[in-house]
Amino acid sequence: MLKVGIDSISFYTSHYSYDLKDLARVRAVDPDKYSIGIGQQTMAVPPPGEDIVTMAANAAERATRHMDLNSIELLLFATESGIDQSKAAGVYVHELLGLGERCRVVELKQACYAGTASLQLGLAFLHQNPDKKVLVIASDVARYGLGVPAEPTQGCGAVAMVLSVNPRIMAFDSPYGVVTESVMDFWRPNYLDVGLVDGKSSTRLYLNLLEKCWLQYSALSHRQFKDHDYFCYHVPLARLAEKGHAHLSKINGESSDEKKISSSLEYSRQIGNSYTASLYVSLISLLDHASEDLTDKRVGFYSYGSGCVAEYFSGVVQPGYQKMLETEFHQRMLADRESLTYSQYENFFSYELPKDGSRAELPYYNTGNFRLTRMEDHKRMYEKTIKKKIFANDEKSDFRHVRVLAPGKLILSGEHAVVYGKPAVAMAINRYVVATAKPEMAEHISFNLADLSYEDSLSLSTLTRLKNRLKDKYQCFVHGDFKIREVLQKPVELAQFALSIFMEMVNIKLTQGINIRVESDIPIGCGMGSSAATVLSIMHAIAHHFEMDVSPEMFFRLGLEAEKLQHGFSTGLDLRASLHGGCIYIKEGQIQQREAPTMPMYLINTGTPQSSTGDCVTAVACHFKETNIGDDFESVTNAMDAALQNQKTHDILHAMRANHDLLVKIGVVPTKVQQFIHEIQKRNGAAKICGAGSVSGDQGGIVLVMAESELDLTDLCQRYQYSMLPIRCEPRGVHVV
Ligand code: HMG
Repeated sequence: MLKVGIDSISFYTSHYSYDLKDLARVRAVDPDKYSIGIGQQTMAVPPPGEDIVTMAANAAERATRHMDLNSIELLLFATESGIDQSKAAGVYVHELLGLGERCRVVELKQACYAGTASLQLGLAFLHQNPDKKVLVIASDVARYGLGVPAEPTQGCGAVAMVLSVNPRIMAFDSPYGVVTESVMDFWRPNYLDVGLVDGKSSTRLYLNLLEKCWLQYSALSHRQFKDHDYFCYHVPLARLAEKGHAHLSKINGESSDEKKISSSLEYSRQIGNSYTASLYVSLISLLDHASEDLTDKRVGFYSYGSGCVAEYFSGVVQPGYQKMLETEFHQRMLADRESLTYSQYENFFSYELPKDGSRAELPYYNTGNFRLTRMEDHKRMYEKTIKKKIFANDEKSDFRHVRVLAPGKLILSGEHAVVYGKPAVAMAINRYVVATAKPEMAEHISFNLADLSYEDSLSLSTLTRLKNRLKDKYQCFVHGDFKIREVLQKPVELAQFALSIFMEMVNIKLTQGINIRVESDIPIGCGMGSSAATVLSIMHAIAHHFEMDVSPEMFFRLGLEAEKLQHGFSTGLDLRASLHGGCIYIKEGQIQQREAPTMPMYLINTGTPQSSTGDCVTAVACHFKETNIGDDFESVTNAMDAALQNQKTHDILHAMRANHDLLVKIGVVPTKVQQFIHEIQKRNGAAKICGAGSVSGDQGGIVLVMAESELDLTDLCQRYQYSMLPIRCEPRGVHVV
C-alpha cells in the first residue's frame, strides 16, 4: 500500500484583525463571554481586495515554493464563499501561481467539510498517479453579520497543502468514519452574503456526529482513543472544539486531557472560523506549537460541515517533518497584523463590489502578494503584486546602493478640464526627483530631504504610527472636518507616508537600516508633478534596494493613496506621466503613449501664483458646471492628440493657442501673462500656463512655450523679468541610474 499524505502545508489569513475585547465593549457584552464562553481572542477581517482567491494564492505560493509546479496535475479548491457559480476559484489561482497547463482544476462544496472531501479525493488520485502531486486549497471568509450572536466567531483564512506519495509531513491511513444527514443548522442561500445559522442545533449536531463518526472509524480501524496522541478538530469556535474533545474523551471512558488539543487551537483563536480551512489550520497550529517532537505521533481529525457531512480519520506525523514547516512565516504573519478599530471593521465588513457590471478599482490594502485590483464587466481582475521577494534577513550582504530618477511633468493640454473627467495630454520632462537608498547600520530609516533641509531617523514602528495618524486625518478631511492642507503638517510627511505604505504592502522587515536621500529640481507647487515624482522615486528606490519586482499598477495605486493626502483628490495624471515617461494621452484612467513634440520647448517662470490650486479649482467650477466649456477643452485636447500622432508642428501650435484661449476664458491667466503669451504668438510661437494658473495677482506660475527662436524669447523674458529654461520630453518613466 502506498503511503500518501501531506508533503507541504501553509496557511494565510488577512493582515487585518479585530480584537474581540473591543467588540465586547461595543456590543456591551462581558468580554469573558468571548474569551472564555466562545474561546476566541481576535477575528481576521478581510479588507477590500482580499478574497478566497487572494488568500488561497498567498497560502499556495508558500506551500509550493520548493517544488516543480508542473508536477501538480490536480488542484482541488474547497470553499463555501464561492465568487462565481461557474468558474472555479482555483482557475484564478492556477493562473496567479503559474501552474502547468496539464492540471485539472475543480471547486468543491459541502460547507466546512469540503476541505476534507478534497483531501480524501486527492489522496485517492495519488494511488492512481503516484508520480504526480495534488494541490488542495481550502479558503473561506466566515461572515454572519454585524451584531448577531455568531459575530464573534467570524474570521477568514486559507490553507494550501501539497499531497504526494511518501509525504514529508503527515501520512494518512485509509479507514474513516463518515456520516451524512440532511439538516438545516447552517446554510447560505445564493442571494445572501452572510450565513444563516441555528446556533444551538449546530453545536448539538457537531457533537452528535462526532460520536457517530468516531464509533464508525474506531470499529473500522480497530483503533482506540488511547492510540491517538493528538486531536485536531474543525474549529468554528475554540470552545466547541474543547467541548468536542471532552465529549470524545467521555464516551471512551477517558478524562479529557487539554494538552492533546491546546496547541491545535492557538491559530484559530486568533483568526476565527475559516470554514473549510479550519481543521487544517488546527493541524498547522499543532505542528507549529507542539512542545515535543511529533515524529510518529498519531493525530485524530474531526471534520464537520453543516448541512451536514462529518468525518473522522487519522494520520501519522512523518520523520523530519520539522524541515517542511513554515512556522516562522505563520507566526510573523499573525504578529504583524494590523488591529482595526470598530469603524474600520464595520467598513471592511460592509464594503461591496458592484453588482451591475460597472468598473470599480479597489482601494489598496495589504493583501500579501496577490490582490483583487478591480471589477469590470462583472469580471474580477487579480494581480500578483510582487514577483520576486527577498526579505532583508535572507540576504543581508546584498543590500544595494540605488539611485532612482522620477521625472516631473507638464500638461500639454487639458488642465482643469481633467478634473471633470475630460481627457488630457501630459508630458514627462527632464526635471527630476532623485531618490537614493543605501544601507545603514542602525535598524532605522533615515530621511534626508535635501531641498527641505530635513534630516531625521525613525524606527519602522514610529513610521507606522505616523502613517496611521495620517490615514485618520485624511478620513477627517473626507468627512469634512479638516481642510486638505491640515492633513500633511510638514512636506516630509508625504515622503514618510509613501515609504510606510509601500513597506507595509510589500511586507518588508528591517534587519538593517536604510538611508533615503531625496533631491529635486522640480519646482514645488507649480503643477509639475513634484509630489507624484517624490512618492514614486522613494517607492522605486526601496523596491530596487530590496530587489523586488513590483508591478507598475501597484506603484500607481500606492502612489495615488499617498498623493491624495497632498491634493485631497488625484486624477492620477502626474503619477502616470512620471511612471511611464514620454507623452501620454489620458482619458478616464486609460493611457495611451504618444510621440513628443519636436519643436524646442521652454519653461518660463512667471512667479508664484497668488492664489492656490484649490482656489483656482473652486473659482473655475462654475464654468464647467454651468457651460459646455468642458467639451471645448476636450475638443482642443483631442486636436492636440491628433497633432501629436501625426507629428504636425503647425497643428500642435494651433491646439496650444486654442487651449490658452480657453484658459483665459475661465479666468486663470493673469493679464500680464496673457500679454506675454500674446507676444510669443506674434513671433509664431505658442504658449500656455501649465498647472492651475492664478485667479488673482499678475503671476501665473509656469508657462510652457514652444518657439523656434531662443534669442527672441530670451529678450522677451528679460523684458518681463521672467526666468527661462529649455526643456525636453523625458521618454523614460521612473528609472534606476
Ligand atoms: P451565543 O448566543 O453566544 O451563546 O451563541 P450563549 O449565550 O449560549 O454563550 C456561549 C457560551 O458563552 C456559553 O457557554 C455561555 O455560558 C458562555 P456554554 O454553555 O456553551 O458552555 N458565557 C460566558 N462565559 C464566561 N463569561 C461570561 C459568559 N457569558 C456567556 N460572562 C453560538 C454561541 C456558538 C451558538 C454562536 O456563536 C453561533 O451561532 N455561531 C455560529 C454557529 C457555529 O459556529 N456552530 C458551531 C457548530 S456548526 C459548524 O461547526 C459548522 C460551521 O463552521 C459552518 C460550516 O460547516 O460551513 C459553522
